[in-house]
This record gives sequence, C-alpha cells and structure tokens, in this order.
Amino acid sequence: MPISNRFIHHPGEDEYLYDLSLGICEACRMVQLEECVEPEMMFNEDYAFFSSTSSAMADHFREMADRIIDIVSEKPSPFVVELGCNDGILLQHFVKGGVPHLGIEPSANVAQSAREKGVRVMETFFNTECARKIKDRYGMADVICGANVMCHIEDINSVFAGVTCLLQPDGVFFFEDPYILDIVEKTSFDQIYDEHVFYFSGLSVSRLAERHGLRLIHMEAQNVHGGSMRYYLKKKDVSGISTDVERHLARERELMLHKVEGYHSFSEHVNRICNDLKETLLELHSSGKRIAAYGATSKSTTLLNYAGIGADLIAYISDTTPTKIGKFTPGTHIPIRSHDFFSDDVPPYTLLLAWNHRDEILKKEKHYREKGGRFITFFPKVAIE
Ligand code: TMP
Repeated sequence: MPISNRFIHHPGEDEYLYDLSLGICEACRMVQLEECVEPEMMFNEDYAFFSSTSSAMADHFREMADRIIDIVSEKPSPFVVELGCNDGILLQHFVKGGVPHLGIEPSANVAQSAREKGVRVMETFFNTECARKIKDRYGMADVICGANVMCHIEDINSVFAGVTCLLQPDGVFFFEDPYILDIVEKTSFDQIYDEHVFYFSGLSVSRLAERHGLRLIHMEAQNVHGGSMRYYLKKKDVSGISTDVERHLARERELMLHKVEGYHSFSEHVNRICNDLKETLLELHSSGKRIAAYGATSKSTTLLNYAGIGADLIAYISDTTPTKIGKFTPGTHIPIRSHDFFSDDVPPYTLLLAWNHRDEILKKEKHYREKGGRFITFFPKVAIE
C-alpha cells in the first residue's frame, strides 16, 4: 500500500510502499498494524487532512467543547490540552471563551491553520518528554483529549506515560477513535491504513490504561467516522466505573474481539465486498456509463488499492479540500477535481468514498440525485442509491 494521505502531483511520481496487515496481541488484546510507517512520512507540512471540511464534524467538535466546558466549569484556572489539534476545529471554541488551552500538532500546515484561528499550538509530537515540558511551562492539565489521534501513535506507551505525568490528580483524559467492533460489524476495512496503527476496544484500552496508573471509567459510542468510541480515563482511586464500560466489554467478549478467532470471517467479508464492488463498476463501465467518486478520503486508499479500482474505472474524485484538488490518489492515480467541477458535470454514477459523511452528503447532493445521478455505496454491501 502507498501512504494513504500522500496525494501525488503526477502519476509517474515515486511512491513509498509498505505491507499493510493487522495482528492481534492476545496478551494485551490490542489489534494493531504489523508494519508501521515512520510518523514523519505521514505527518508533515504536506499533511492532506483538514478536520474542518465537514459540517457534521464541526457540530461534533462544538458538542465536545461544551462537554469540556462542563468538566472544567468549577476550576478556578482550568487548562485544557488537545493532542493532535489539526486545524483547531475543537480548540477554536476555547479561544472565544478565553479558556487556557494548548494544542499539540506535528503537521505544520494544519497547525498554522489552527494558529490563524487564535489557537495556541505547540508544533511537535506528544510524548513523555513533551508532557514534562508542558507541565513545567503551563502546569498540569484538567482535561487532556484527542480525537482520531491516539490510534495514530505507534509509541502509545510514551503518550500514556506523558498523560499520566501531565494530568491533574482529578483530571480527565478522554479520546475517541474508530471502534474495532464497528469495523468488524460493518466490514469497514478501509479504516485500516498507515495512520491507524491501533484499532482500540474497551478491552485493550483498559489494559493499556492499567499499565500507566489510569482507569477506564466510561465509554460512549460516537456516530462519527463510521462508528467511533470515546474512552474516558482518570487516575486510579478517584472515581467509580460506569455500567456502560461493563456493557461494552461484555459485547466485545461475546464477539471474541480479544482473540484472533473473532476476526476469521472478517477477511472473507472484505473480499466479498471488494469483488462485488469491482464487478458492479466493471458492468457499469462496460455498458458505457461514466463513474466518478466523492471524497478523496485517506481510507479510500485502502479500498481502491486493495480492490484494484483505478483511473480506468473512475474518471475523477470530487473533493472540497484545496490541497487535494489537481492531485492524484496514492497508488491508483485517479485525478481529484473540485466540487464545482462535479456539480457541473453530473456524472450518472458516483462511488461514495466518504461513506462516513453519508447523511451530510446525501442531503447536500439532493439536486445531483434529482438530476438522475446515483450514488454507489458498499458497506455493509454494495448498493446503488
Ligand atoms: P474523512 O472521511 O477522513 O473525514 O475525509 C473526508 C474527505 O471527503 C475530505 O477529503 C473532504 C471530503 N469531503 C468532500 O469533498 N465533501 C463533503 O461534503 C465532505 C463531508 C467531505
């Protein structure tokens, strides 16, 4: 596989390739990549993913900001730290409210975008050493949070050790990432790519937390990124555990997600979806129908490369991210065009790669469908809508 967010300038460009495969550690119950890509190759000044491209995600982060404000409202001098603040989609709400905050972000371009919103950013990777520096400079944090970032960090033990060092004794650490149970139930295998080193479950997170003097006290399912889980952790001995934790852990055990057996049928389902999708696209293409796609997502790099869907089948991908427009998809070299181009073009079929934003996109593209355009979706099975 190529690097998922490394959109190329022209199809002849050299691309770094690595073996994408998952393993499970039956001791710590963590599902994880077997080969990791160097972080600097993924998160740098060319990082293509800007969080603020979806209005549903903007709403999600506004709610998260309200939740944090509830947590810190009693504190005389609160301090909130976000790991992986991207373009400031969350922390911008604390700029307006005057809540002391710090975003940690290693990708220079998105960090700059956050600064432009008035967010205080430290441009670096978070680890134990960074946590010590923050503590010396700003004091301990009442809330440490991260969305779609913890699963990106190979040296997760250093991050957890850093959190333990930086978090107030009664502070809250919460993070959310795509949930392994949703991935297995929906067969959403395109969540598996270079940036996602870990595929968390309550079972694996509680073990990881224990190792660092933290306790998983609450779990909350989130309807974003195709099904995510938010994990709340506190230092041990400060509070009880919610009944939701036991409920989620019981369901994970029932599906055997802590054992390799729990994943045996997964690869069969993946291959079935890829075959069905390729067949559908080939049939449409051979009957002379033009097919475009919607959303040059990082996860589509896995789907397109694994299923063998390239520029021979897909004319172009529509995307609203300025830095992606005019480039080509990693490995499969499909051109990326603006949303205006798509709206003028009205291709008869469009493969919905950004399926996690389905509701928002179907609402937005009402006119496209009224003009006869059809979306092709593929989870949990291939359909034309
Ligand atoms: P994500 O699935 O990782 O959030 O990436 C979504 C991609 O889809 C991102 O490149 C922006 C693009 N996109 C659109 O082009 N139009 C849309 O309406 C939405 C919601 C996303």
